[in-house]
Amino acid sequence: MNIIDYPRWPSLARESILNVPMDLRSIKLNINGRIIDYSEEIDSVVITGMGGSGVVGDIVNDLCWFWDCRVPIIVSKNMRLPRRLSKPLVIAISYSGNTAETIMSANEALTKGYPVVGITTGGKLSTLLGNRGVPVILVPKASAPRYGLPALLYPTLVILERFSVASVTSELESGISGIERALGHVDDATELANQLLNSVPVVWVTESRRGVGIRFKNDLNENAKYYSVVSVVPEGAHNDIAAVITKQGGLRHMVIMGPNDYEGLYEEVLIDVISSFRAKPIIIKLEGKTPLEAEMYGITYLGIVTLALAGLLGVEPVSTEPIDRLKSLLSERRIFQV
Ligand code: F6R
Repeated sequence: MNIIDYPRWPSLARESILNVPMDLRSIKLNINGRIIDYSEEIDSVVITGMGGSGVVGDIVNDLCWFWDCRVPIIVSKNMRLPRRLSKPLVIAISYSGNTAETIMSANEALTKGYPVVGITTGGKLSTLLGNRGVPVILVPKASAPRYGLPALLYPTLVILERFSVASVTSELESGISGIERALGHVDDATELANQLLNSVPVVWVTESRRGVGIRFKNDLNENAKYYSVVSVVPEGAHNDIAAVITKQGGLRHMVIMGPNDYEGLYEEVLIDVISSFRAKPIIIKLEGKTPLEAEMYGITYLGIVTLALAGLLGVEPVSTEPIDRLKSLLSERRIFQV
């Protein structure tokens, strides 16, 4: 099976963090007469980006259920920033650097005087930020944004360390071990993909592994062109679960379980309930000694499952034509002004 850029993930993670500027906290900018001082205290981190870039925010949010993150992480997937921010750091992530929503959010952040760090391979985001002296971390390219995930995530983690949001350095290598372990499971990935044929996967995750669920759904959509649903518990256990025996048919329940996740016992009850309705779920256990290791293991392994599924379906995995068409129509109709 062709697993595209996955074998490069460990090196993408390692190379990308070399580009995080050492002097990030000593940057001081004057933008239209407004001073933006990167040494000042922040009280939140907004991670803005879409799709394969935006999922970095979901992953960091997961990790902060385990780490002692000093400020809230706000995941923003929109063309505007959330309202009522006080002293945020804005991390704007766009693999291509040409995603209008992310460019608009980064621009808004600068207008409001917030410190911004860009993570991209280039594009308009890099020009917009670079021209004003805003730090931009240029990362290595991959075959499509989603295949470059470690190059977008790892610099984000180092930025969090530099802003004393979380202490992550000691865990970075374990995340790479998680990727490497998953790369050794290509055969089981094909077996799991087989079980998903002719179904709509329903991916059950806990709040602290929401990012793994969202990423898996996105990979099913983009690699295998396969529709799927994510249900996050406990909330999903108060609504989605009522449709476990739906007459719509074809649902394939999958429960993602992390090692020692706080909500693990809750998921065991969920599995019993789903099974009692004769809809026995597939259980996917995330392996890893640290939160990052388990997260990277799950994301890598499930990503490979979606490539295996694409292979079984005879679908070309890399291209995502409807997304490209949307982006070019948005630009043609000048929906966004930057
Ligand atoms: C993933 C993918 C999309 C993009 C999204 C945003 O491979 O192609 O989900 O990530 O359209 O584009 P970027 O990441 O370039 O900002």
